[in-house]
Amino acid sequence: MVRETVVRVDDLILPLFAVPGEGVRKPVESMPGVAQTSVDELVKDAAEAAELGVPAVLLFGIPEHKDEQGSEAWAEHGVVQEAVRAVKKEVPDLVVITDVCMCEYTSHGHCGVIRDGDVANDETLSLLAREALSHARAGADMVAPSDMMDGRVAAIREALDDDGYTHIPIMSYAAKFSSAFYGPFRDAAESAPQFGDRRSYQMDPANGDEAVREVLLDIEEGADIVMVKPALAYLDIIRRVKEETRYPLAAYHVSGEYAAIQAAARLGWLDLDAAMREALLSIKRAGADLIMTYWAREFAKAAG
Ligand code: PBG
Repeated sequence: MVRETVVRVDDLILPLFAVPGEGVRKPVESMPGVAQTSVDELVKDAAEAAELGVPAVLLFGIPEHKDEQGSEAWAEHGVVQEAVRAVKKEVPDLVVITDVCMCEYTSHGHCGVIRDGDVANDETLSLLAREALSHARAGADMVAPSDMMDGRVAAIREALDDDGYTHIPIMSYAAKFSSAFYGPFRDAAESAPQFGDRRSYQMDPANGDEAVREVLLDIEEGADIVMVKPALAYLDIIRRVKEETRYPLAAYHVSGEYAAIQAAARLGWLDLDAAMREALLSIKRAGADLIMTYWAREFAKAAG
């Protein structure tokens, strides 16, 4: 009766990975319980999530071909665009959010255009806007830019508004740190940078004030929901952002945080169910309204 924090199934968002083909379900080794799936299989996962009460999915696409520019990112019939169409057709009430970034689509694995060995921020903005627009046209309910280029929320907002998608909200990965905990995701999304790292555009894990400034900038540019990522190693940032903005706040419980607990549980060193519940509870208690988690279905099943 005096419990202050409750994680509800409808706080959760399930990330899913779409690959080309049919009948494909390829487990991601470093993320037990997570698979790359073709659109037909992805729809089944989305339907199961919806049935369990999970309100939303976050879709990532792994294209057939990667190139220097990442041009499949905005292809009308790209893998993620087709996944959006299929899920909205089969499970219309499920909220479909798309991750907007270049790293899954570029041959070099960086989140933008490369000039002189580094990512060119401003040149990347129009490509991200184009990608977000293609997702909206396919029927996405919300877009979530994860690239961390400066100015991309404004660029995406303008592109959506100009095309009549004024009602499509933007959930921005606003304080996204350059983290070691994304390792397993890069296996799942086949998006590891082929040279260098992401430190020129993602944030220094040492900086809390800067995280708040980054979030405020995204809000000014038109973000509707702001995100802190990763979650467990950044609970203080979640709390600060919530208190300093009072904005709807999402936290991404990322692949490495998930994988670490799964691995320990597999070794018999942790109780998986208890650790899962405690991890999600701590993220909620810190101030997150929404949690992106690979455990969305498991939590829903356990919650009964
Ligand atoms: C794309 C992106 C990443 C994640 C979400 N979107 C990886 C990265 O920035 O390298 C990570 C998610 C996770 O680790 O679960 N930029």
